[in-house]
Amino acid sequence: MKFNHIFSFALLLAVGCASGPKESIVAKYLDQRQPLEERVEDALQRMTLREKIDIIHAQSKFSSAGVERLGIPELWCTDGPHGIRPEVLWDEWDQAKWTSDSCTAFPALTCLAATWNPQMSATYGKAIGEEARYREKDVLLGPGVNIYRTPMNGRNFEYMGEDPMLASKMVVPYIKGVQSNGVAACVKHFALNNQEIERHGVNVVVDDRALYEIYLPAFKAAVQEGGAWAIMPAYNRYKGQHCCHNQYLLNDILKGEWGFDGATISDWGGVHDTKEAALHGLDMEFGSWTNGLNWGAKNAYDMYHLALPYMKMIESGELTTKELDDKVRRVLRLNFRTAMNTSKPFGSMNTEEHLEAARTIAGEGVVLLKNEGNVLPINVEKCKTILVVGENAIKMMTVGGGSSSLKVRKEYTPLEGIANYVGDKAKVEFQRGYVGDTTGEYNGVKSGQDLSENRSAEQLIADAVAAARKADAVIFFGGLNKKEGQDCEGVDRSEYALPYGQNKVIEALAEANKNLVVVNISGNAVAMPWVDRVPSIMQGWYLGSEAGNALARVIFGEVNPSGHLPFTFPVELADNSAHSVGEWPGGRDVRYTEGIFVGYRWADKEQIKALFPFGHGLSYTSFAIDEPTISKHSMKAGGKITIKCEVRNTGKREGAEVVQLYIGDKVSSLPRPVKELKGFQKLHLAAGQSGTAEFTITEDDLKFFDDKQHAWIAEKGDFTAYIATSAEDILYTLDFSLK
Ligand code: GLC
Repeated sequence: MKFNHIFSFALLLAVGCASGPKESIVAKYLDQRQPLEERVEDALQRMTLREKIDIIHAQSKFSSAGVERLGIPELWCTDGPHGIRPEVLWDEWDQAKWTSDSCTAFPALTCLAATWNPQMSATYGKAIGEEARYREKDVLLGPGVNIYRTPMNGRNFEYMGEDPMLASKMVVPYIKGVQSNGVAACVKHFALNNQEIERHGVNVVVDDRALYEIYLPAFKAAVQEGGAWAIMPAYNRYKGQHCCHNQYLLNDILKGEWGFDGATISDWGGVHDTKEAALHGLDMEFGSWTNGLNWGAKNAYDMYHLALPYMKMIESGELTTKELDDKVRRVLRLNFRTAMNTSKPFGSMNTEEHLEAARTIAGEGVVLLKNEGNVLPINVEKCKTILVVGENAIKMMTVGGGSSSLKVRKEYTPLEGIANYVGDKAKVEFQRGYVGDTTGEYNGVKSGQDLSENRSAEQLIADAVAAARKADAVIFFGGLNKKEGQDCEGVDRSEYALPYGQNKVIEALAEANKNLVVVNISGNAVAMPWVDRVPSIMQGWYLGSEAGNALARVIFGEVNPSGHLPFTFPVELADNSAHSVGEWPGGRDVRYTEGIFVGYRWADKEQIKALFPFGHGLSYTSFAIDEPTISKHSMKAGGKITIKCEVRNTGKREGAEVVQLYIGDKVSSLPRPVKELKGFQKLHLAAGQSGTAEFTITEDDLKFFDDKQHAWIAEKGDFTAYIATSAEDILYTLDFSLK
């Protein structure tokens, strides 16, 4: 080597060494220190067409391929919103019969919403994310935030109620909690999946105002505030296109208007057209050739729309790789945030912390609907015999209901929880009262309970009444369950009334003992024709592993209930807008003719009194809310107004009150609800303690969606702020104006 070569080589080496930190010799996409987008581009350039195709569709029931050659791992998904589904076989729905995948079942999301406490959502998301992480899952297929449009929807128990603002505030911390574990939340089902009847094909016809003001906000919050890494488009159609490949929802709104940078993961069996799947915003296809519950073609993975059919379209030149590369970028981004995230924690499973989280969320979500004569809390010291009645006191509710079904380490039923709590302080008796669903099996997971019963309905009532006559207190556990036709995916309810002849049992018990408590275990509102004859009524929800323990703590007063309803309980179905002016279940189309007037928005408009209104919830203590102050009575554009009010616990024990702020636009160019929830605050106060609820109102809170301008606008004029403890319990009104 001539002198000058040696010299220049030495020079190069010197310069190289002196050029600051060592350039990584690791390929950029594998280097965690590199910016995410540069890693994505680096990986994308290295991938072949086949490798790109392979990672955008399933390879098994719940996983998609990685890139073996590049060391990019597979992505593993798992249900569901309330706990981590048991492992299933590669290409089956049935569970794989592992012995290491029992989980903690957390309360259903209706209960979480009923806490009206975003801190509970943060706790929930972190805990369920730890269990997903421990099970080595990359994507949690939840939470669900479809709006509660009708009490007949079989899946409402998986969602967060009828109000877009409550659902928005409650979903964001859940997402952040899950994703703090390096596990993606996959928020579902986007969008307008508000019934189960004909869910795979029904075409929802809804005006833009209802779409933007009611049905989209929780998803928008999930993306823009929660930073969700994945979204699951729904089965149904909107504007004639399946939501899983929908130009309007996925490309125009989700990715266009909202700037979503994550991956859209189809619902299982939700993809029906290759070209639409290629062009209309779908990034990952799962579960094709299945109905997402209990049947499917075998090993169909190469036949998936985004598999060889898509590859053929590209090889033939019918499509370029433009859309494919965008899909691959999103899948790689998802992968780098989860499976290839080397700084994520290691998770945990079935811990005491998780059980305590489940118990605490349940205790904050149970809603005391009525408590006259103060039957509740039951003082065990004053009881010799406590009678528990009803199938829902003994039936496990974590098995069944569809894809959110779980295999728990242990589920405490209400009877077990009460017996544990009472111990030998009093005698706890049980009477069946009625027979509902004696099954208890889903995807091979068996509850193991023998709920068989051979007494007649009359005999069951007679036995329960005889026992009730001699008891000091009677607690009836009824409601719905997770059987098809009740609170269950894939089917809607067939009646608004309580099933299985429960009303007769309740009325007989009310005759037999005045110290009667009725606990409704359900994810939906139900009719209560006996409401005036029962002194104490509680909404118990599906509470998961710790159900009985949480309910016992509330019933016997250790926990003061502080839940508030996340949806209206209409007296009868006709009081609900979907069943009076809207359509349900519709046919090929289902028209949301009620538009924005969903839930209390309808009740206000039509002045219909609810059985129990949205936001309602009582306590074992009492609260006084003083006259609020308002910082000013007129707001300039871009300005803000502050409303404060003192809340005092005037009772003898600690408790929590939920102060709600609603706002009404007195005069508007387009129809608006009388009032809409714009803020809420839960204050935990010791006996005698005071606290301040503070709300800041900005121009955004005054806006409505003008579908002509396709924009959110606030019109100048007069507004009313309502300080309330439910949609019907308005304590104060304050007028102000937007200049
Ligand atoms: C189901 C559900 C969806 C679930 C998926 C996988 O059909 O609609 O919520 O995550 O398929 O089980």
